[in-house]
Amino acid sequence: MSQRYKVYVTRRIPDPGTRLLDSSFDVTFWDSDDVIPREELLKNVKGVDAILCMLTDKINDEVLEHAGPKLQVVSTMSVGYEHIDLKACREKGVAVTNTPNVSSDSVAELTVALVLLTARRLLEGAYAVKNGQWGKWKPMWLCGVEMKKRTLGIMGLGRIGYGVAKRLKPFGVGRIVYHDVQKLSYDSDFGGEYVEFEDLAKESDILCICCNLNPQTKHLFNKDTFQKMKNSAILINTGRGGVINHPDLFDALTSNQIAAAGLDVTDPEPLPADHPLLTLNNCVILPHMGSNTWESRNRMAEIAAENIITVLNNGHPKGEVLQRWN
Ligand code: DGY
Repeated sequence: MSQRYKVYVTRRIPDPGTRLLDSSFDVTFWDSDDVIPREELLKNVKGVDAILCMLTDKINDEVLEHAGPKLQVVSTMSVGYEHIDLKACREKGVAVTNTPNVSSDSVAELTVALVLLTARRLLEGAYAVKNGQWGKWKPMWLCGVEMKKRTLGIMGLGRIGYGVAKRLKPFGVGRIVYHDVQKLSYDSDFGGEYVEFEDLAKESDILCICCNLNPQTKHLFNKDTFQKMKNSAILINTGRGGVINHPDLFDALTSNQIAAAGLDVTDPEPLPADHPLLTLNNCVILPHMGSNTWESRNRMAEIAAENIITVLNNGHPKGEVLQRWN
């Protein structure tokens, strides 16, 4: 009798992923919605052929060693894979896969929501109502800014950046400028203009960070960048927290170097409840919920499972970060 592959899943995941895995493999789950403790992870991956992990699980040499020589694939249920040591996986011939594309619409929608939340001071308004601070109508209370005729800047014109540009264009923004590693041909879909990073910082009224974190983007938004930005600029981040230097952002927001910020991602995550940024009215912070829709999470779970099936059957998975024997 042929032996079934063993798969370890580090969290409860949506049904479409669970069903797929259960029908093909011997699957063990960390049966919780919370992060698996490190010792449990190390203990439970022993002898498995595949690991389905989350972006909160640090997958490094230690995990690969504990898993042992049968391990063929690490499939993360996320787009980002900063938590996986690719060098260690390459050395051990372990494939790495992710779940690209399926969450892009959800994250682009949330980015637009965060732009409006921040630019129109909506959270301050909602809190004021709850806290009994809603007095008689005042001409200059909680005034924000319109999108119309503003320059929208996008840092990183991948699927999410593209989705944000397409969605905000109908608001009547004046120009859409973007920076990426190069000019991208599909920018003509929304009349986008490729600009150097410095010009992106100088010219944007609303600047959305939609890029990933890598050595080039780490702390790209720092003291120097904030000095170049408009005093009226609004900075939005739905990419990765590490793209912004947070102490510098605090200084920029408290010295009126920029007007406001809306962050769905921070560094660290979760942001401690006593973090200085949480004391500011002009900083809206969400708990990394860009892909929190059932459409997105169901597909992410399904693709993470499909990727394992594909790799174990010697095929090319949808999100191929690292092939098995690179
Ligand atoms: C990802 O997929 O990397 C997101 O940040 C979490 O959904």
